[in-house]
Amino acid sequence: MNIAIFVSGRGSNLEAILKAKKQGFLDSNFYVISNNQHAKALDIAKCYDTPAFYFEPKPKSLFEENALKLLKEKNIDFIVLAGFMAILSKDFIKEYPHKIINIHPSLLPAFKGINVHKRAIESGTKFSGATVHFVTEEIDAGCIIAQAITPIDQEDTETTLEHKVLSLEHKLLPQVIKWIEQGRVFIKNQKAYVKDAKYGSYPFNPELEI
Ligand code: GAR
Repeated sequence: MNIAIFVSGRGSNLEAILKAKKQGFLDSNFYVISNNQHAKALDIAKCYDTPAFYFEPKPKSLFEENALKLLKEKNIDFIVLAGFMAILSKDFIKEYPHKIINIHPSLLPAFKGINVHKRAIESGTKFSGATVHFVTEEIDAGCIIAQAITPIDQEDTETTLEHKVLSLEHKLLPQVIKWIEQGRVFIKNQKAYVKDAKYGSYPFNPELEI
């Protein structure tokens, strides 16, 4: 497959994906698109010899126009938002129906949006985690493909919780991309499923070998 990864910043999820490709766990050709010229993710792409492109974020319509042109040029089949901190327009999403996924650092539908770890700790909830879901017009609301969980310990801070969740993200996202490459992710009655996936085991993830 040809997969575009949209990024905006640090790029640790991007690195997890490119590492998984280097280790032979993933097969796709990856192209990186950033809306931030200074994103560390762009340096990471370079380190892994992965084509990377920057398009000015504003106006959004121009960013999307440029991105779409590249996506068509490279015959992109699928888009992964990996720390992409902008909201795609309805028209853009329509171009790739059920072909855009996002990773979010909470157990959706809890804690959509930003400042997720702070809000999770303040709420007193005992578990958090990461979610990979399809992207729809409504923010962080598309159907959920997979989740990974971690307990929130009494001594956890925003920073320690972020680290715990991020290390789950780095396993969960490559795993979901693998399932997509294998054609195992499907939607039925507005819910997403993975054919023959073993959820339900803790800690995540028995199938992952990276
Ligand atoms: C990750 O925690 C990702 O889940 C989150 O931003 C971080 C990006 O880190 N994404 C969102 O909050 C999207 N709403 P990274 O750049 O190191 O991958």
